[in-house]
Amino acid sequence: MSLAQDQEQKPDTVKQLDHRYEGIAKVTGKARYAAEFSDPFSKADLVYAFLVQSTIPSGSVKSIDATVATRAPGVISVITPFNAPKLAQGPPQPPARRNLSLLQDASISYNGQPIAVVVAKSLNEAKAAAAMLKIVYTPQPAKLKWEKRLDEARWPKNPGKEPAGNHRGDIHAAFAQAAVTIDNTYITPIQFHNPMETHATIAWWQGDKLTVYDATQYISGVKMSLAKSLNIPVDNVRVIDPLVGGGFGSKGSMWSHVPLCAMAAKVANRPVKLVLDREQMFGLVGARPSTISHIRLAAAQDGTLLGIQHDNVMNVSVLEDFVEHAEGPAKSLYQSGASSVTAKVVEANLGISTFMRAPGEAPGTAVLEIALDELAEKLKMDPIELRLKNYAETDPSHEGRPWSSKHLRECYSQGAEKFGWSARNTVPGQRSDGKWLVGHGMATATYPANRSAAQAIVRLLPGGRMFVASGTQDLGTGTYTIMAQQAAAGLGLDPKMVEVKLGDSTLPKAPVSGGSQSSASVLPAIQDATTQLKLKLIDLAINDAASPLHGLQAADCDVKSGRLISKSQPGKSDGLVELIARNKNQPVEAQGQAEPSEAKDSMSTQSWGAVFAEVGVDRYTGMVKVRRVVGVYDVGVLLNEKTGLNQLMGGMTWGISFATHEHGIVDAATGRIVNGNLAEYHVPVNADVGVLDASVIGIPDLKFNPIGSRGIGEIGITGTAAAIANAIYNATGKRIRQYPITPDKLL
Ligand code: MOS
Repeated sequence: MSLAQDQEQKPDTVKQLDHRYEGIAKVTGKARYAAEFSDPFSKADLVYAFLVQSTIPSGSVKSIDATVATRAPGVISVITPFNAPKLAQGPPQPPARRNLSLLQDASISYNGQPIAVVVAKSLNEAKAAAAMLKIVYTPQPAKLKWEKRLDEARWPKNPGKEPAGNHRGDIHAAFAQAAVTIDNTYITPIQFHNPMETHATIAWWQGDKLTVYDATQYISGVKMSLAKSLNIPVDNVRVIDPLVGGGFGSKGSMWSHVPLCAMAAKVANRPVKLVLDREQMFGLVGARPSTISHIRLAAAQDGTLLGIQHDNVMNVSVLEDFVEHAEGPAKSLYQSGASSVTAKVVEANLGISTFMRAPGEAPGTAVLEIALDELAEKLKMDPIELRLKNYAETDPSHEGRPWSSKHLRECYSQGAEKFGWSARNTVPGQRSDGKWLVGHGMATATYPANRSAAQAIVRLLPGGRMFVASGTQDLGTGTYTIMAQQAAAGLGLDPKMVEVKLGDSTLPKAPVSGGSQSSASVLPAIQDATTQLKLKLIDLAINDAASPLHGLQAADCDVKSGRLISKSQPGKSDGLVELIARNKNQPVEAQGQAEPSEAKDSMSTQSWGAVFAEVGVDRYTGMVKVRRVVGVYDVGVLLNEKTGLNQLMGGMTWGISFATHEHGIVDAATGRIVNGNLAEYHVPVNADVGVLDASVIGIPDLKFNPIGSRGIGEIGITGTAAAIANAIYNATGKRIRQYPITPDKLL
């Protein structure tokens, strides 16, 4: 579809569901997640696998004596690098692009790497037997303490689509001309995903056909990756996952435990369930790397940015490069005379890094937006005024190409109004409330608007009911809900009349539910499917002698509010219920697909927001209490009030987590994650969150897609951490440039 057509196309009038489609199933315990299935196989046949992990960071497994473990009660098999079935192809290639550990050799690259799988009749028996394995290692010196080896930083080997360095204008001249400069280093920690539902797989073979229930953000990705890892035809694999208990990016790739579970099911010749313990979530399923950002800003006395420089260095696994593009926002968030960004990596014997909750923009805005606050203070300018002064009307990182839609100005002004920004004390440390020092801060939020090709199928069923399906995923985000709404809107039906199916790789294909793209990709496919369905229904009616529309031209007919109508003869109509009844109750089905238009290359698609935070800092203990956060976002149309605002609030909560809680600590001697559990790896609980106020501007972005809606899965995380860091500075006068901002840093 051309850009012109995109602009002309009006979004359907969508009736929103008041409640989450699957809400009742979830709160009544009827909802089933990947690890909870026991069909179509018999429950009695199901056996349990437990993953055994390396306890050294580098070297190899010399031997595993499984004599005692094999004789332990309930044990069915013990799979080690010395007896594992050989996989013909070796390590898998993209789309997973993960260097997996599938027991094909005995080498060890990080503490926590899978080195064996024990299968038993019960989970407890499998765990008990795992403890009986006598494992002998040949250790090698490990590369740890990466932050002490910054001189080893190198360019990444596979930076993906993004170049590792990006330079515009004359950055040296910018600093030579500057009236005011900022030059500081900012640090973000290693973070671990930890969705409520840990990774889990049930694998079941029927001959050479493999079915898996798998906790994943990408059923068709797991299907392709499993086929590649196991060297079997892709059509022999089916992946099912109707509900995901949170993903956060770690479920965007297939990790080692999935093919290992399939391997165990083959060896044991039974269906096998493999669930990762909470402790096993810290290492073998990815992490956000730590970043060290050197940021320099050059400004004229009136606040005009002359130059932005952001040099980012991070840790990577020795197994695989993954780049956390924290330097990304420095390229395009503000207009500046010149910009220069680089990303480099330092190898360490740690688990593989991966996408996590707004990869790039979460740490990127967390650090850059502190630097902006520091610059505003030096210039004695209001932080919003500084941002407006350098407002990027077009995309500076793509030679000034236009944005599909940008209403960040409205975010700043509405946010400031809602928050009461004008009452802020500009001098730090001036406001208190008993023992609490109170501060206010703000920051800009941003995340790309992504979209990929997707397919969907719709059916009109007897009784005015509808069915819609797509091979997408619902991470608890509301995919079911908005799919029902979109399908219903196509025929003007009530979304309560729609049955939704997703999370099965036999359904029409949809992209990974990552990069905040599911709604933006899948809904246009549903819109296309309902358009095709309308044409079929009209065709059926005009050829049906019993229809009041019999003999009319198709072009004269339309479907409105659940009825087929004649456009030229008002009052002439046919009911969809009656039409299907006359069709001997045979459902009418149509398929649809959609993909980004060619016009996508002539514009930049991005979402925006302004985040304001009020914090209290205990003057005696340094404890930070986030009192309230106001976020106003420009994300196009908000598809569902409840699930949409809920997602933004979830994102803001992760921003609070980024600012003051999360921090993966690596033991410098063993490479073990010291706080690898939810007791010691802190995430915010309700008492840590305060009042969240999320809202949207709501102006449709019809150049981006015909729905006018950009994704909202991740933008809430961005900006929030810096708004809090800036509020902490405003409260205390202490500028902390290392996350998380814990009491020890404030005392
Ligand atoms: Mo999200 S980290 O792009 O799954």
